[in-house]
Amino acid sequence: MRGLFIALEGPEGSGKTTQATRLAERLRQQFDAVIVTREPGGTVAGERIRAILLDQMECAILPETEALLLAAARAQHVGEVILPALERGAAVVCDRFVDSSLAYQSGGRGLPLSEVLAINRMATMGLQPDLRVLLDLPVEEGLRRRFGGAGEVNRIDLAGTEFHERVRACYHQLVAADPVAWVVIDASRPPAAVAEDLWNAVAAMLAHSAGAGKRGRQSA
Ligand code: TYD
Repeated sequence: MRGLFIALEGPEGSGKTTQATRLAERLRQQFDAVIVTREPGGTVAGERIRAILLDQMECAILPETEALLLAAARAQHVGEVILPALERGAAVVCDRFVDSSLAYQSGGRGLPLSEVLAINRMATMGLQPDLRVLLDLPVEEGLRRRFGGAGEVNRIDLAGTEFHERVRACYHQLVAADPVAWVVIDASRPPAAVAEDLWNAVAAMLAHSAGAGKRGRQSA
């Protein structure tokens, strides 16, 4: 039996990391194994790619290079961590997945969506999240949080307000194109309120799929 795969998405400063931890705590009441992981990263190779992409402020990186490095890290993550966990029946909460590449590398950097999708078809090995969560908040508020100390500032955070506005707009387009796949949560509110909405959305999905006989309590 397959596990559960939830991708948390959103602009900078949306509180995904905090929410991933809170969601995992509640999922542990329903699943024997729960994994919280992140992109770029989640594997030894992926964390090295992450360092090239995010830490190295001084090295030039073209949008194409950025998209390919992110896809390379994703392929390793899917093959080494996510798919094996799902096959064991675990719940996997992922802090960013393929929609981040669509929003940042296509929406933000301006690469054609079809090309970002194409390289990610290989990287995801066909895996799609069971639920895509957009933790949404205005760009100004997110950047204020980020530069006010919420999380470390990285190369992409520094891309400028207009870039981050395009990222957020692209997320909204992705939701509009496939609203059933997504839940959108107002992340400008206090973390407890966001966590409550997130859990309600996940619980509703679990109840629906248990009712359809697709998913029950899982064994690791
Ligand atoms: P991180 O510190 O994890 O930021 P956040 O807390 O906002 O998730 O850094 C991840 C950065 O990488 C973030 O700026 C978004 C960017 N990113 C992409 O541009 N494309 C991608 O496919 C992924 C996974 C992340």
